[in-house]
Amino acid sequence: PRHLLAIEGLEPPHIADMLDLAENYALLNRSGKTQRDLLKGRTLINLFFEDSTRTRTSFELAGKRLGADVINMAVSTSSVNKGETLLDTASTLNAMQCDLLVIRHAQSGAPALLSQKVEAAVINAGDGTHEHPTQALLDALTIRRHKGHLDNLVIAICGDVLHSRVARSNIHLLLTMGARVRIVGPPTLIPAEAARLGVEIFHTMREGLAGADVVMMLRLQKERMAGGLVPSSREFFRFFGLDAEKLAYAKSDAIVMHPGPMNRGVEIDSAIADDPVRSVIGEQVEMGVACRMAVLDLLARNLRRNTRI
Ligand code: CP
Repeated sequence: PRHLLAIEGLEPPHIADMLDLAENYALLNRSGKTQRDLLKGRTLINLFFEDSTRTRTSFELAGKRLGADVINMAVSTSSVNKGETLLDTASTLNAMQCDLLVIRHAQSGAPALLSQKVEAAVINAGDGTHEHPTQALLDALTIRRHKGHLDNLVIAICGDVLHSRVARSNIHLLLTMGARVRIVGPPTLIPAEAARLGVEIFHTMREGLAGADVVMMLRLQKERMAGGLVPSSREFFRFFGLDAEKLAYAKSDAIVMHPGPMNRGVEIDSAIADDPVRSVIGEQVEMGVACRMAVLDLLARNLRRNTRI
């Protein structure tokens, strides 16, 4: 495909190819032998309308490691503040012959809309509560490195699933690749469409984590709870925060994941987040760079504009 807008709709061989290429980049990154001219002459623009630490930085690193010119557009000091629309901003960037446009936006569907208006390859870096496809890829790669495969694993995604684009992309990817996906949280934070997606739903950590191979924690996304009830952090931690006692329900070799940013003491106890054996949170960030390199590499093969020098 020309863009990466969502995981939903991707076929297993396509996902497996992306993960295989990302695994190669992970090995190259560790050896310090990354290819530096694959994207020479290409321009990548990071257009983030919402805050980010991991995604924006790793797309910047990924682009630079492949030789692209990378521009981080500072939305807070751009003409968006003077009332310029998303589409006018996009056509301005289009006129500057941008090749790869990485966008994060609070509105679900904004990257898809943009992809119809620009010649650049558009990559969804998180849109509202819809999807965060590169996060699901890096999560899958991290799981595969630890468990050797994705099919038939029991993966528990816990916490605020309702507001989580990370959860939606992970559900689509993991089910497509043959894993058994459970979602665990209070009824108020489980999306209505969950059962239709083919996941198992649990409202206690004891039941949801029983026999799990992977425990994936999500933060309470308070910025998307406008008008709704915001659970108290202390109460949430008591029932759904991952600590040693709750992790003991899962398999003894279960790995612990978190997409970040973490709220320690709310959805995860510090001792678990920092556990050198069970927690793979640092490795998720490392795999983020590798996966984004793989995505840029693959999309660059189908670019419409011939601006390569
Ligand atoms: N996981 C994730 O998307 O992190 P950032 O918001 O820091 O990019």
